Amino acid sequence: MSGVSPSRDGVLAALREVHDPELHRSIVDLGMVGDVDVRDGRVLVAIRLTIAGCPLKAEIQRRVTEALAPMPGVESIQVTMDAMSDDERRTLRAGLTGGSARPSPFQPGGRTTVLGVASGKGGVGKSSITANLALALAQTGATVGLLDADVYGYSIPRMMGVMRQAVAVDDLMMPVESHGVRMMSIGFLTEEDSPVIWRGPMLHKALTSFITEVWWDDPDYLLVDLPPGTGDVALSLAGLLPTASFVIVTTPQLAAQRVARRAAAMAARVNLPVAGVIENMSWFEAPDTGTRYEVFSGGGGELLAAELGEPLLGRIPLEPAVARAGDAGLPVVAADPDSPAARALLAAAEALLAVVPRPALASS
Ligand SMILES: Nc1ncnc2c1ncn2[C@@H]1O[C@H](COP(=O)(O)OP(=O)(O)OP(=O)(O)O)[C@@H](O)[C@H]1O
Ligand SMILES: [Mg+2]
Repeated sequence: MSGVSPSRDGVLAALREVHDPELHRSIVDLGMVGDVDVRDGRVLVAIRLTIAGCPLKAEIQRRVTEALAPMPGVESIQVTMDAMSDDERRTLRAGLTGGSARPSPFQPGGRTTVLGVASGKGGVGKSSITANLALALAQTGATVGLLDADVYGYSIPRMMGVMRQAVAVDDLMMPVESHGVRMMSIGFLTEEDSPVIWRGPMLHKALTSFITEVWWDDPDYLLVDLPPGTGDVALSLAGLLPTASFVIVTTPQLAAQRVARRAAAMAARVNLPVAGVIENMSWFEAPDTGTRYEVFSGGGGELLAAELGEPLLGRIPLEPAVARAGDAGLPVVAADPDSPAARALLAAAEALLAVVPRPALASS
């Protein structure tokens, strides 16, 4: 034993480096550190959680312990946890957003690049591509939000491997984070498999709260996974996210490309640009022989991109690993980064970065 008991100030300084896993701010600055008591190498820290049953309790405890354990003279660490009072929560919430009601944080002049992933028809791989792009962008060091705007058929929670309920601080919802991506989805608000019947105005209200009542914290990118088709959701979002541009997903068939064109027409109708096109399920490569089979011929992605005068950001092969990874909750770019589909998706993310560079990179 060294005999030097750490100072209370030293402990606080170490705690200042600990960030809340959801709020990404120092727990000291957030007012989450209560009493700190240091006696003969025994450290007692009281943590004030934003809500009583905080699902990230264990992670916060781990971070606190990890920060204090290496300090000279620390022999034992005891972390107690209780919940903030309503007043404390309100103070914290006001500190985050600088007030109560606020408009969409994604307004012209804001720092976030907003990208809606759309297609004319269902099942072409929008959600898979959105999840993989989100991970790929996060891997470059960008902060990434993912808004699952598919309120009827949400699939993002499963694909990103997280099914828990979102936490609210006062009336501000915290995104749920997985694989370094902060997300919001109806799936984080309702019990799994409970039917949700949305009518037009409710739908708009849900999307509005997803944008204005969630603490997105101005990420570099906000990807929006749109439901299939060109209906109400796209119109609602265009109003709420006036700086968005669209990534249009299509499969190679000419019929699919014609349908995807409708998504592009929808973008034009709401006066939002198309950033590029991604063709999915472009070919299948036999794993034993490496032979490429163009399952759906047509070159739809290239034709659509040419027609729109926007880049074809990528062609993604049809590969069982994509579906498997999605089902397992870890998108293929992370689960199997060397697979042809993952490489194609990573290249598509890079092409996207060339069109919409991330702010920090753009200025350097
Ligand atoms: N490149 C691919 N290779 C193999 N399977 C894929 C590929 N892309 C998507 N899939 C699978 O196809 C199915 C549909 O994909 P996904 O849910 O991403 O499409 P979607 O366009 O979001 O559908 P919806 O319109 O219903 O929202 C999923 O089971 C997914 O795992
Ligand atoms: Mg989908």
